[in-house]
Amino acid sequence: MTPSLTIAIDGPAASGKGTIARQVAVRYGLRHLDTGLLYRAVAVLCAREGVTLEDAAAAGQRAAHLVPADLEGDGLRSAAAGRGASVVAAHPSVRASLLRWQRDFAEKAPGAVLDGRDIGTVVLPDARAKLFITADPDVRAARRWRELSASRDIAYRDVLRDIEERDARDAARTNAPMRQADDAILLDTTDMTIKAAVAEAVRLIDTRLAV
Ligand code: C5P
Repeated sequence: MTPSLTIAIDGPAASGKGTIARQVAVRYGLRHLDTGLLYRAVAVLCAREGVTLEDAAAAGQRAAHLVPADLEGDGLRSAAAGRGASVVAAHPSVRASLLRWQRDFAEKAPGAVLDGRDIGTVVLPDARAKLFITADPDVRAARRWRELSASRDIAYRDVLRDIEERDARDAARTNAPMRQADDAILLDTTDMTIKAAVAEAVRLIDTRLAV
């Protein structure tokens, strides 16, 4: 059996990693998983069922029984779901269940591009290529604000605060914190258009796959 080709793309909120990962998957003919959606789905299930996000056992139960349809629900992309996701993401029981889900997805032929926070460090430490995508917080907040303000009235400063709080929580947790893997290539998209960032990501991945 040909081993699956796996590519890990990590980085903070609104760094461009999602768009880059989707387009990289198309470029290499791979499947794509936005792993943030898994954590968002657990948070949304907890909220819907009146479970407090701090209840690690209850959140772990939701993570263990997650089904693909849970990743398609309304409200997964909201700022509240993102905040909730970063709270449940700190529970080891949640991370353990979602780790299995992510690896099962990546193992299926022909392979996959996964984007998240701990893909290169924990989920797929043997990925063939790893990128860590970043950008200045104010640039990331402006990007996210443009997305969110298209559908509702939201203040830029609230988006910036949300992003800074989430980054801090994701980087500080003891279990699988957001971190650049030692063998990941850093791509700073602060001064790049998304088109240029995708082109640069493909160029960097090509150099890794050629080795
Ligand atoms: O990427 P996204 O903003 O959708 O992720 C939502 C939250 O899910 C993150 O802030 C983080 O706390 C958590 N997450 C994680 N590990 C991943 C992906 C997301 O902890 N691999």
